[in-house]
Amino acid sequence: QNYCVILAGGIGSRLWPVSRKELPKQFLDWFGTGRTLLQQTYDRFRKIIDTKHIFIVTNEHYADLVREQLPDVAQDRILKEPIRRNTLPSVAWATTCISHLCPHANVIVSPADQLILEEKNFDDDVLKGLDFVGHSDCLLTMGVKPTRPDTGYGYIQAHENMEEGAFARVKSFTEKPALDFARVFMESGEFYWNTGLYLYNVRTMMKAIHDLVPDYRDSLTEAIDAIDEDDFCRVPAHFDTLPNLSLDYSILEKSENVYVQVCDFGWADLGSWCSLHNDTQHDRQDNVLLNTEALLYNSEGNVICLPKGRIAVIDGLKGFVVAEKGDVLMICPKDDSAALRRMMTDAQMKL
Ligand code: GDD
Ligand code: MG
Repeated sequence: QNYCVILAGGIGSRLWPVSRKELPKQFLDWFGTGRTLLQQTYDRFRKIIDTKHIFIVTNEHYADLVREQLPDVAQDRILKEPIRRNTLPSVAWATTCISHLCPHANVIVSPADQLILEEKNFDDDVLKGLDFVGHSDCLLTMGVKPTRPDTGYGYIQAHENMEEGAFARVKSFTEKPALDFARVFMESGEFYWNTGLYLYNVRTMMKAIHDLVPDYRDSLTEAIDAIDEDDFCRVPAHFDTLPNLSLDYSILEKSENVYVQVCDFGWADLGSWCSLHNDTQHDRQDNVLLNTEALLYNSEGNVICLPKGRIAVIDGLKGFVVAEKGDVLMICPKDDSAALRRMMTDAQMKL
């Protein structure tokens, strides 16, 4: 049986000030389609996976948002974390619940901040990948061909040069490399971007966590023992004492038994202003206007995101982000992520 875990507990800090702690990027409708990123992610999976098999893992502060945005999801399929501990505890918890329901389940874990342009290819690849992990004891990640040396992604090196649709053993996995490494990776042609879509059989993941993350061994065993039929999604004991670890650093970088499936389904990650600019629709002057009315003169390569009812009038601006939400208007160079981080930290402390 196939299951899906949607991770929707991040805060999307790199898209500040539009993505805010109270309302992070996955709960926003960036393009005026009428569906938020989380809803789009759910819509994508409900076509191929039984809705009773879809879990959402989020922070307890966002539980109401999830309920509002996904009214069809049963209460016991929403796992609410009392504290943000990154993606390993989220995946470990969801996997534990699934193993209780179905000890041989095949699972796909998905972020909630992505766009997929070619849905049919996506559906086929996911089903193929789930079938693959059902027949082998490896962890599988979906990889796509990189188009720029982006330092915001994980890079997967494959053992063989591969055709699209193939599965290959992973030689190395590097999460968010420095720019010079990202360049080398990209030019070599052997590397793929990690999409953050992971597939595995529950037994394989439980074993990987057990073997690779000793700190989790006891809490995982305890969590399995403590699952209660009547209170299925109760937070595992000691959740808040678990170390902050991401699945990428703690399992993917360390496991010897990872495969990559090379995919091509028009993947884009809405991680930062820069990736948002690269991966979404531009006007002829290379500007991206997100639900925003604007009069632009001599301006190119900008991202503009203002609330409804505001009009931007801009002359001679190149390569900037102009973003407003609530009490903050931010204007900052688009490609300088260090500048953005600095501004964000300073501003957030004051506002
Ligand atoms: N439940 C829960 N709890 N979800 C979380 C938490 C948490 O503590 N932290 C993050 N998430 C969710 C986010 O909401 C998002 O949907 C997903 O996990 C991935 O987190 P990001 O913070 O967006 O990760 P990233 O984009 O920096 O990096 C990951 O994704 C890239 C591709 O999009 C990595 O997997 C990279 O290797 C990958 O290239
Ligand atoms: Mg992301």
